[in-house]
Amino acid sequence: MSSDDPNQITAEGSLRHLLSIEGMPRQLIVALLDRADQLRQMRNDELPRSLRGRAVMNLFFEPSTRTRVSFELAAKRLGAEVVGFDVARSSTTKGETILDTVSTLSAMGSDIYVVRHSDASAVRAIADHVGNRQSVLNAGDGCRAHPTQALLDVLTIRQRKHRFADLRIVVVGDIRHSRVARSTVAALRILGADDLHLVGPKGLLPSAEDFVGLQRWTSLDEAIAEADVVIGLRLQKERMTEGLVPDADAYFQQYGLSKARLKTAKPDCIVMHPGPFNREIEIASDVADGAQSVIWNQVSNGVAVRMAVLEAVMRTRDG
Ligand code: NCD
Repeated sequence: MSSDDPNQITAEGSLRHLLSIEGMPRQLIVALLDRADQLRQMRNDELPRSLRGRAVMNLFFEPSTRTRVSFELAAKRLGAEVVGFDVARSSTTKGETILDTVSTLSAMGSDIYVVRHSDASAVRAIADHVGNRQSVLNAGDGCRAHPTQALLDVLTIRQRKHRFADLRIVVVGDIRHSRVARSTVAALRILGADDLHLVGPKGLLPSAEDFVGLQRWTSLDEAIAEADVVIGLRLQKERMTEGLVPDADAYFQQYGLSKARLKTAKPDCIVMHPGPFNREIEIASDVADGAQSVIWNQVSNGVAVRMAVLEAVMRTRDG
């Protein structure tokens, strides 16, 4: 399956939709990060009302806390009207197709769709359906892509480490089912990260066709030595077939991010997790709440990155 979405970038190189990171030009990613950094430093009353009069539809067909709320806050802070569309109580439960729902909302004058769906092809299908009339932002589709999470992850690393080359970055956990790992690793590679380690139990490591060219490790203790950045991932039981789900205690013993295990990483190694995280399964509480954790910086950066993306697609549409 190709993960590129060529139709998300216009012929002039600007962002029409944000569907995946793969294939995005480096300078476009850097421009979004630079703008997010600017927006992050502004007080709420200093922010540009660049989305005034625009309507943003949040279509979440899967649970979400931080992605949904941060998209909503980002859009509102830029002056947009935001509709938090309640999928569970919508006409999709009466048999209406998603594309008909989108046409209905488009007829009411929506400008941007923020979509999360468990099916990896759903967000793309909506983007194809709306063409260049509206913009579609992928808020997570199946195991495939979560591009705004990738942008906030690389922004967080850039703020702390100021570079990507020569950084040892360890991604540990359920990589096989992780759209975050796919998108964040893609962004890191575009930005020049060249020492990436993928770690997890065999059954949760990606297949050979996925993450081509990257080293896989089953021992976190080996992979974590001299690490600059460690990214933990949630065990995504909802995406696992039975038999793959590891025992929580055994998992923590081998793959949990604990203080003892971090001792062989660099002393200034940062610890990340996209959330939601499971304490004492993927990460020890004293690490999640400790000095090396940048988990809450990731969450704050999420609002800034989503403002930058909303502005960028709106600018493209206004030409
Ligand atoms: C992730 C997601 O939903 O893809 N969370 C997030 O958006 N911050 C990761 C997960 O669910 O584990």
